[in-house]
Amino acid sequence: MKIGVLTGGGDCPGLNPVIRAIVKTSSREGMTALGIQNGWKGLVDNHIKPLDQAAVSGILHRGGTVLGTSRTNPYKDPAALEKLKNNFKKLGLDALIAIGGEDTLGVAAKLSKEGFKIVGVPKTIDNDLPGTDFTFGFDTAVNIAMEAIDRLHSTAESHQRIMVVEVMGRHAGWIAIHSGIAGGADLVLIPEVPIRMEEVIGVIRKRNERGKNFSIIVVAEGAKFDGSEVTLEKKLDDFGHVRLGGIGELLAKKIEEATGFETRVTVLGHVQRGGSATAFDRMLGTRFGEKAVRLVKKGEFGKMVALRGNEIVPVPIETVAGKLKTVDADFYAMAKTFFG
Ligand code: F6P
Repeated sequence: MKIGVLTGGGDCPGLNPVIRAIVKTSSREGMTALGIQNGWKGLVDNHIKPLDQAAVSGILHRGGTVLGTSRTNPYKDPAALEKLKNNFKKLGLDALIAIGGEDTLGVAAKLSKEGFKIVGVPKTIDNDLPGTDFTFGFDTAVNIAMEAIDRLHSTAESHQRIMVVEVMGRHAGWIAIHSGIAGGADLVLIPEVPIRMEEVIGVIRKRNERGKNFSIIVVAEGAKFDGSEVTLEKKLDDFGHVRLGGIGELLAKKIEEATGFETRVTVLGHVQRGGSATAFDRMLGTRFGEKAVRLVKKGEFGKMVALRGNEIVPVPIETVAGKLKTVDADFYAMAKTFFG
């Protein structure tokens, strides 16, 4: 049996552990793994590399993806889609394991409906995919953000400043809430709940009255100001996403204007996505990769592996298509207990 493997969308700590697990498991089962480079683009352009034991040796602790990635959407270009389908057949793939987020798995779901044998593996640092309790990469990103918040505490206190920390999270505030609570932030602002400046200022002033003349505010990049996202440019990617960024700067300016307190911004950006995965993400990625091969072996296509409790289970791949798991009101209410 020949299994193609690709990684699509933004990279994420834990991708290499998934690839390694797929190769090791498939090789034990007497299957061959074939690496498709740079996401769906590699299947359009026929950019392939062999994935044997040697190719995955020493990659467990490495960040990024040894297969490369892209945000290519083959459904945007009928000619590209045709090439992709022909290459799938020409390569003699018995199955494809697609590792990615909402966009990559959305393409996988469509191909699967057209009869291609596909198994999905959910990936995103944002943790916003439905059907799975967690995606790998999230724990690493949260730990990086938490450490940054820890470090910002001491300098905020020394200078009696307000520190705004902008973290990733396009549609969902999971990274912001988890890192904010774990790091003891005084306020966390997320895409799901519109920012209210009176609340932001209220928290800072109340802390000041208690003798706390510094504050840490965590804001997700997708948080909305006056009802809109703050963007770096207007250009859209293949899947229609705009490049977010700038909410931290805007917020800092508004805080300084309203309170007179000196305010600084730290934008964590892609630091949250780079480097080695935590043990949790390496383990989750390894379990996802192993299970994906087992599903291929059993002929369970059109499925995505998912974490439910402590079990890795198959769920229909359409579970993720066009849907997002966002922070609900109860979870945010819990987080609010720790604000101020
Ligand atoms: O998809 C995860 C993510 O890290 C988002 O949080 C962020 O908005 C986006 O990717 C950034 O994408 P890029 O790497 O293309 O700048």
